Parts: sequence; C-alpha cells; structure tokens
Amino acid sequence: EKGGWPSFMKKEISEEPEAVAKTLLGRSHDGAVTLPELDSLHDVLGEINRVVVIACGTAAYAGMLGKYAIEAWARIPVDVELSHEFRYRDPVLDGRTLVVSVSQSGETMDTLMAVKYAAQHGARTLSICNTQGSTIPRESDAVLYTHAGPEVAVASTKAFVAQVTALYLLGLHLAQRRGTLDGAHVAAQLTELQNLPDKLDQVVESASSRIAELAHWMSDTQSVLFLGRHVGYPVALEGALKLKELAYIHAEGFAAGELKHGPIALIEPGQIVFVIVPSPRDPSSLHPKVVSNIQEIRARGARVIAIAEIGDVAVVPFADEVIRIPFAAPLFEPLLAVVPLHIFGMELAMAKGLDVDQPRNLAKSVTVE
Ligand code: F6R
Repeated sequence: EKGGWPSFMKKEISEEPEAVAKTLLGRSHDGAVTLPELDSLHDVLGEINRVVVIACGTAAYAGMLGKYAIEAWARIPVDVELSHEFRYRDPVLDGRTLVVSVSQSGETMDTLMAVKYAAQHGARTLSICNTQGSTIPRESDAVLYTHAGPEVAVASTKAFVAQVTALYLLGLHLAQRRGTLDGAHVAAQLTELQNLPDKLDQVVESASSRIAELAHWMSDTQSVLFLGRHVGYPVALEGALKLKELAYIHAEGFAAGELKHGPIALIEPGQIVFVIVPSPRDPSSLHPKVVSNIQEIRARGARVIAIAEIGDVAVVPFADEVIRIPFAAPLFEPLLAVVPLHIFGMELAMAKGLDVDQPRNLAKSVTVE
C-alpha cells in the first residue's frame, strides 16, 4: 500500500537506498562475496568465455552498467542485448556462454522467450529477478534475486538500482571465481557498494525539492536531451526513457562522444540538456571531456542541467543548474546519478497533471511478445 505517499512512484524512489541495501544483505562475508545461489553454476562460471545480458527497457540499461563492471573486474567479454532482438537473429551460443536475463517482473514475454531460446541452444542461464517464483527464474539454471520489494508503479525505479547492485555482485563473484581481482580489491568494491545506501539517502533528500522546482518551470517543454559518457551513458538512456513514459515528452539519451557525429545538430537556443558529469577526482576521469562537451552545446544555446559531484567547482561556470551527488568511485556513480533523473521524470509528470503510477498505453509486466 501507498502508506501516506502521494504515489507509488514517490514511495518507490524513496526506497531506492533500501533496495540496494537489501540486495546486498547477507551476500558478503569478511570482504568476500558469498552467493550460494550460484553454487550450481560453479564449474560453468570457471569455463565461460562470454556473458550475454538480455533484458528490455530499464532492465537493459541496468545490464549495460553490468557490462562495464563485469568486464572491468572479471575480464570476460559481455554483450548486452534487447531480448526481442537477440531471440530473432540467430545468435551464436554454446556451452561457454552464460546468458544473464534481467527482469523485475520475471514475466516479460520477450525475455522469457529469449531465455528459453538460449537454453535450447546450449547456453547456461542465470536470472536476475525481483519476483520470487515468477516464470523466468523457473526457466533458468540459477537465480539471483534482487530484493527491491514489490514495485507497483509502472515505471521502474527501485528495481533498477537493485538490478545494478545484483549485476555488480555477480561481477565480483566472477572475479573471485576466476582470480582476476585479489581479495583486497574485491573488499574495496564491496565497501563502495555498502556505502551506497547512505549516499542514496543523501541524494533523495537533497535533490528532491530543487528538481521539483525545475520540473515546474519546464512543464511545457517539448523536448529534453540527456548526455553521458561511459557509465553515464546508460544513465542518460534511463533518464530519457522515464521522461517519455511518464511525462510523454520527446526525450533522447546520447553518449556524449557521439554529439559531433550527428545529435549536436539538434541543439538550438533554449534546448534543455541534462549532462551526467563524472567525478573529477579520478585521474583517468572523463571529466574534462564531458566539460568540453558541455561547452560545445552551451555555445549553441543549450540550457545545461549538470548532475555533478559535490565539490566539482569546474563545472559551475558552464552549467545553468547543478544537481549535486556525493562522491563515489566511477563504476558506482551511476547509481547515484540516476536518482535525480527518476525524480525529474516523476515531477515533470506531476507538473503536467499526469498519473505517474499508471502512464497511458503501458502495463507493469508485458506478458505478450
Ligand atoms: C521502464 C520500465 C520498462 C521495464 C521493461 C522490463 O520504466 O519499467 O522498460 O523495465 O518492460 O520489465 P521487466 O524488468 O519486468 O522485465
């Protein structure tokens, strides 16, 4: 039940910190990842030479983040594919391919069909799912549950951060199993994960009212663009999807490096662009590149809303508005940066007088192909 909240979506966004915390709970010990639910895949996980993540919508964006982490930590190539594209293009699969499906509902027909197809063609299958006893886990060799709790609002929010958390746990588990990270590195990444719930609380607390104001003055905006690089790119895609489905506004997410290959032609005076800015602290950070992307669009009249780390002063002269998030190591930043975008989608829909829990034309679980 809504328990006094104005909408399920608002309640579920406020539960994002808890969704991460519960998905981590009981899954590590003494700085190591412990996932007994993957025991049946123990031998397989040592032998696989490829991971394919299949999912739709928001779950696919979580999968894209999983790719960055699994490749970085476990050094296994990862492809991320939309379930409905994967299933119908004669993909190359064998016993050394691990197919990881990601689904909140566990009932998405496109993903279910893709999982069955993968199993029939010799791949091993792991389900990352939020719904106990649903169909996709039952059809898979193993399941790693996210513990976001029931998600009622049609647009996915807390399930997304829980899915990313589960994929990161899988990445660390694979790295342990295959010896690609030493114990100290695994422990350090686990600490980063465990620090997220408090940081997420800070974001929900600090960003909400400013974003509500922004959404209010933007309520008749026709188009919003989202830019990010590296792990900021899936966040940009997620921000755009939320705006389409909740506020019925044309929205696009781009990899910022792609701007000059086409999308920059869209920039005209007044165009609102959200930019996910990486932390400047990391020496290999893409921060300078993103700041120069901001300068390019600013020079063409874009109104820039930056999502940037607390203390990043370099971005201030170039942005019309800065939404602050706490510091996190690069792979963990997207979990924080996505929250203001979830809030923005919801607030813009509310500013337009729309039903945020039940957007038009959509169903919570898509049980037809
Ligand atoms: C977006 C959204 C959808 C779902 C997608 C997959 O906010 O909710 O894009 O993420 O339909 O659903 P599941 O995760 O249930 O397979």
